[in-house]
Order: sequence, then C-alpha cells, then structure tokens
Amino acid sequence: MSGKDKIEWAIQWMPVLNSIKRDFAENKPFKGMKISMALHLEAKTAALVLALKEGGANVRIAGCNPLSTDDEVAESLKNDYGVEVFAKRGLNTNEYYEYLNKVLDQQPDLIIDDGGDLTTLAHNHADRSENIIGGNEETTTGVVRLKNMEKAGALKFPMFDVNDAMMKHLFDNRYGTGQSTVDGVINSTNLVLAGKKIVVAGYGWCGRGIATRMRGMGAIVSVTEIDPIKAIEAHMDGFDVHPMRKAIKNADLVITATGMKDVVTLDDLKNAKDGIILANAGHFNNEIAMNQIEGTSIGREVRRNVKVHELFGKKVYVLADGRLVNLAAGQGHPVEIMDLSFAIQALTAEYIVKMRPKERRVFPVPSEIDKKVAEIYLKSYDINIDHLTEEQIRYLNSWDEGT
Ligand code: NAD
Ligand code: ADE
Repeated sequence: MSGKDKIEWAIQWMPVLNSIKRDFAENKPFKGMKISMALHLEAKTAALVLALKEGGANVRIAGCNPLSTDDEVAESLKNDYGVEVFAKRGLNTNEYYEYLNKVLDQQPDLIIDDGGDLTTLAHNHADRSENIIGGNEETTTGVVRLKNMEKAGALKFPMFDVNDAMMKHLFDNRYGTGQSTVDGVINSTNLVLAGKKIVVAGYGWCGRGIATRMRGMGAIVSVTEIDPIKAIEAHMDGFDVHPMRKAIKNADLVITATGMKDVVTLDDLKNAKDGIILANAGHFNNEIAMNQIEGTSIGREVRRNVKVHELFGKKVYVLADGRLVNLAAGQGHPVEIMDLSFAIQALTAEYIVKMRPKERRVFPVPSEIDKKVAEIYLKSYDINIDHLTEEQIRYLNSWDEGT
C-alpha cells in the first residue's frame, strides 16, 4: 500500500474532519497564514494537514517523536500533495531537532504541537517566533509543560489545551490508547494476551483505557498508581492495585502510561521474572528508565521493535526502545478516534485566527467547539438523541418544585 493509499483510507473514515475541511475550503480561514506543526506523522495526521491546507494555510510539518513517522505517508504528503515535510522514522536527537528547527524557519503565524518540543524551541528562538499569534497542544505531557511555562511567566503567546477538550481525552486518551496499545504489543510480539499477567502503571485516561482493553483480551491486569483517588477507582473497577516493586514480581508485561519519569527502574527489574516484557504508552521514553537499562546492557534486536537486554542474569525485553508502543510499533489510534482529536485541533486553530486572544496563558478549548464536534459526529453516524422539552428546561431551572 502506498502512502497516498494510506492517507486516502484514513480520510475516508474521518467524516467530522471532512465536514470541517469542506467549510475551510469555502471560507479559507487560514488564507496567507503559515502553520508549523510537530505531530506524530502518519496517515490520520496527513488528513489534518490537508484540511488546514484546504483552509488556505501554508503548512510545514515535522514529527514529534523519533520513531513515530510513517515514511510512506511523509513521502506522499511531500510528493503528492506538495506539503513541506521534515520527518523521517529513526532520527537521532540532532536530526530530530534539526527538523523541528526547519518548521520554525518559515516564521509561523500558528503552531500545532504534540508534547511541547516545538513550543519550547519556539520560545528559545524569538527571531523565528515573533509572528506567532497562538497555538494548540495535543497531549497531556505537553499541557503539563505549558502550565509550568505559564506558572513561571515564560509563555510568550497564547496556547490552547486541546488535550483537555472532552471530545479529545475521553476518546483519544482512553479508547484510542487502549486499542492502539493492544495493537502495538501484539504487532511487535505476536504473543497471546489472554492469561498474561499485565501491570499497567498509571490509571489516568490512558492507563484506564489500556487496563480495560487488556482485560477485554483476557489478560489478568493489575494497576500501580501514586494518586490515592485514582488507585481507588482502579480498585473499584476490579483491578488489583500494588506498588510497582510488588506488582512487577509476577508480571509478564508491564505497560507505563503516566507522563512521569523512572516509573520502572533497574531496581524494580531486580524483582522481575526472567523474560519480562516492558512497553510504554506515555509521551516520552523516560517512563521506563531507558538510560539506566541501556547504560547497563545495550540490547539486541530479536524482532522488529523488540530488544532483549541481559540484566541481573535475566532477559528483559523492551518494545520500541521504550517509546510510545502504540505509534512506534503499532498504527497509532484508530482512524475514527483521530477524526475527533484532529477536528478539535482544526476548529481550535480557526478559533485562534478569528478571536486573536492576546493573553499569554494556557486557554481551554471553548465548549462550543467540543459541542460542535460531538454534533457533527452524531450526524455523521446517524445517531439521534433526545432533547429537553420547554417544560423540562423550566424544571431544570426551578428550585421550588419538590416531589
Ligand atoms: P493522566 O494525567 O490522565 O494520567 C496519568 C496517571 O499516572 C495519573 O493518574 C497519575 O497519578 C499517574 N502517575 C503519575 N506518576 C506515577 C507513578 N510514578 N506510578 C504510577 N502512576 C503514576 O494522563 P494521561 O492522559 O493518561 O496521559 C499519560 C501519558 O500518556 C502522557 O505522557 C500523555 O502525554 C501520553 N499520551 C499518550 C498517548 C498515546 O498515543 N500513546 C495518547 C494520549 C496521551
Ligand atoms: N496519530 C497521530 N497522532 C496521534 C496521537 N497523538 N496519538 C495516537 N495516534 C496518533
């Protein structure tokens, strides 16, 4: 399958973004504007790029992770659609930043980021960021970084927190990461999940999705947490909850999804079984302490996206070098899920251009955008819901009407 076929396949299943794209084609909200993006560059992302282009933007795009670019898609976007692409799978750190720099070189009006590397770079290069009127951030880790910048008074332009839009994290982080992590693990290992003892670190939106989907495949799942409330949620959802040091003892597979560093360390691995498999679904490759593991044992590739490390006389298998397993070893989120996330991205970009917010802070996505995406989705799938009657609205707003 060519990159173009992959892009066309994705576009076919993205009715929400397609509806927004038609509107962009008519109204050209980004006419004459330059948009610089750093996202996981695969087929669904290409659909977002083409929607923004249809809206009149000149788009430059880089990857936001050294292992998540689909090279066929990147080539097609460049050659078939004339987009300025700076992305390739398997970049080293220098090349990764060289490409991020290239997307900034066009002196963008808007940025769209996933994880915060492009935003940070823009802040360190005032000469190339002075035209930026605002930007969007896709993921939890990027939003944490943005909020830290805001707190430190370092934010130089308004940024929108796309991750916390309901139509993003409720579906993308939970069902998207859930399904695509199963995909990445199966794809790289070809092992059965039923009966496997799986530890999921973190019971936030992603962890919850992964734990429930793994359980759905017949795995015996336990959870680790640091937040007492999330730990109770996991417990009441029927998962065993333990600290990592204990949970890892019986684990066949550990999957991290915390946004935190050093969640699985060398020390933890002393307690692990021979043949344990480690995978990460969080944004950065520091959740499994890869620096500690690779500092002790370089690792040898035994399958595509699987390396074995000899540690404490045991075999420890790491998937995708500890990078997000669903993108580096899988196909990323299902298409219909990214349709929602990228619809939010597209409408938020349009909102920035229309409203020109000036405050240098992290803004939530306006609830009208969430509602609009939900409504287009329901219409696209011919799903009808009830609506409140006049009498019910009056009841909702009353206080003196008891039983
Ligand atoms: P979240 O904030 O909803 O959940 C993270 C959870 O991890 C929290 O409950 C937190 O208490 C817990 N946690 C933190 N440190 C921990 C530790 N040391 N041990 C155990 N638990 C710990 O965040 P989220 O939306 O679930 O995102 C998690 C990570 O996944 C982020 O890095 C995010 O950017 C990334 N993400 C990845 C994908 C993907 O496609 N792979 C998609 C969305 C988000
Ligand atoms: N595909 C493109 N961007 C993605 C993301 N942030 N998470 C999962 N799959 C994706």
